[in-house]
Amino acid sequence: MKTLLVVYHTHGVKTAQMAEAVARGARAALAEAGGEAEVRVIVKRCADAGPEDVLGADALILGTPENFGYMSGMMKDFLERVFYPCEGKVAGRPWALFVAAGQDGSGAVASVERIVTGLRLAKKAEPIVALRELTPETISRCEALGAAFAAGLALGVL
Ligand SMILES: Cc1cc2nc3c(=O)[nH]c(=O)nc-3n(C[C@H](O)[C@H](O)[C@H](O)COP(=O)(O)O)c2cc1C
Repeated sequence: MKTLLVVYHTHGVKTAQMAEAVARGARAALAEAGGEAEVRVIVKRCADAGPEDVLGADALILGTPENFGYMSGMMKDFLERVFYPCEGKVAGRPWALFVAAGQDGSGAVASVERIVTGLRLAKKAEPIVALRELTPETISRCEALGAAFAAGLALGVL
């Protein structure tokens, strides 16, 4: 069985709603294709996730708000904890990112991408950045991202 891991942090609501949408899309795609026995979808907050989760994941989707022009402190803490235990062991695994921001988001995207580049994960989608209000369109994009990752793992094309 393969594992799709979603790791996110928020002190608010938007990033959590995006994480829920990613997981909902993934699980719906698996249910539709009868792939629930092939891929498990795990959603964890940064504080609850560690190197063993990343090492056990076939694909990783990260979510963070932009705080002070950077990823959230808890996402940085998570990446600091997993970086060296996972370095050299997860190369090539697919990953993607979603960000909740007020008016920018680019600092969060750049900071996460820079660190994940060091893990040599394979970026499979452009980051989803929700500015201001979380729109139904952005929720749909999050669901589609989750669905694509789940289907890709189930079919063995990711
Ligand atoms: C401490 C703090 C710092 C923030 N810094 C930024 C920032 O640098 N750029 C930005 O676009 N939004 C910034 N924001 C706005 C949040 O990114 C935005 O409200 C986001 O939607 C929060 O998502 P959440 O509901 O998951 O917490 C900041 C918010 C807080 C609380």
